[in-house]
Amino acid sequence: MLTRPIPSTGEPMPVIGLGTWPVFNVGSDERSREPLREVVRLLVDASGRMIDTSPMYGSAEGVTGDIVAGLGVGERVFLATKVWISGRGQGIEQMARSASLLKSPVIDLMQVHNLVDWRTQLATMREMKANGRLRYIGITHYTTGSLAELARILEAEDGIDFVQCGYSLATRAAETRLLPVCAARGVAVIVNQPLERGDLFRAVRGKALPAWAAELDCASWAQLFLKYLLGDPAVTVLIPATNKPDHMADNLKAGLGRLPGEQQREQIRRWWDGL
Ligand SMILES: NC(=O)c1ccc[n+]([C@@H]2O[C@H](COP(=O)([O-])OP(=O)(O)OC[C@H]3O[C@@H](n4cnc5c(N)ncnc54)[C@H](OP(=O)(O)O)[C@@H]3O)[C@@H](O)[C@H]2O)c1
Repeated sequence: MLTRPIPSTGEPMPVIGLGTWPVFNVGSDERSREPLREVVRLLVDASGRMIDTSPMYGSAEGVTGDIVAGLGVGERVFLATKVWISGRGQGIEQMARSASLLKSPVIDLMQVHNLVDWRTQLATMREMKANGRLRYIGITHYTTGSLAELARILEAEDGIDFVQCGYSLATRAAETRLLPVCAARGVAVIVNQPLERGDLFRAVRGKALPAWAAELDCASWAQLFLKYLLGDPAVTVLIPATNKPDHMADNLKAGLGRLPGEQQREQIRRWWDGL
């Protein structure tokens, strides 16, 4: 799979990862866990690494930790979770619980979820990174309205490795409001809601994939939607969520073959806006 370097270290990051909201919030229900195990196995078999979760996602962190441990792939995945609480002590406690649920004393990436009490949590995360408990730190949000604040924080604060934001073919504000700042500041970009929570598929229901999609090695709508985002070199990794192994296999193929250049991206935007 194609990789992009994490700017702060140069570590290669495979471009297709996996989101866990809401699909990994299944508790101990074995029938619901079974396809998720297959989804994670497919991710790892295709050399994918990032799995994104959060204490906000119900039982998802614990389910992720169980599945990764059960498959014995802890060394191969890159676990990203979040702190989503106010207060220093509460943040420390929540991050310790995440490490325990993920069965991972060192967490690859800790992010401030939706910028909740971000100054407090960022200060703690910097200490934990210095102590070797976190490998990378970041901040997240998902709304267009938050892009300016994410950009302002990245411009003002040093040492933030990752930002996670919403970006899809239907919601492209990040292209102008955040990604240029990330490229200039050397911050890795994780794209959440890359399929607009599934809404992109509704817009093309009943339509045939355009013939020009083959020029980008796209054999499905999902691959076209994801490859459009990967055409921006500022993007590091996409984290589409699914509990369906065939959808995971489909999404992983977006990390292979040709990507659109700027001219092709402009054509895709015009085609999308004309639907
Ligand atoms: N503030 C934050 O930090 C924040 C906010 C939002 C999201 N996130 C993260 O981003 C992740 C992704 O966001 P999201 O789940 O909201 O939206 P998304 O990934 O854009 O969309 C997920 C939807 O797309 C469908 N889908 C996935 N692959 C498909 C395929 N190949 N073909 C057809 N349908 C497909 C899924 O349905 P099926 O299950 O049927 O495949 C699901 O309904 C979350 O899981 C979470 O980890 C973070």
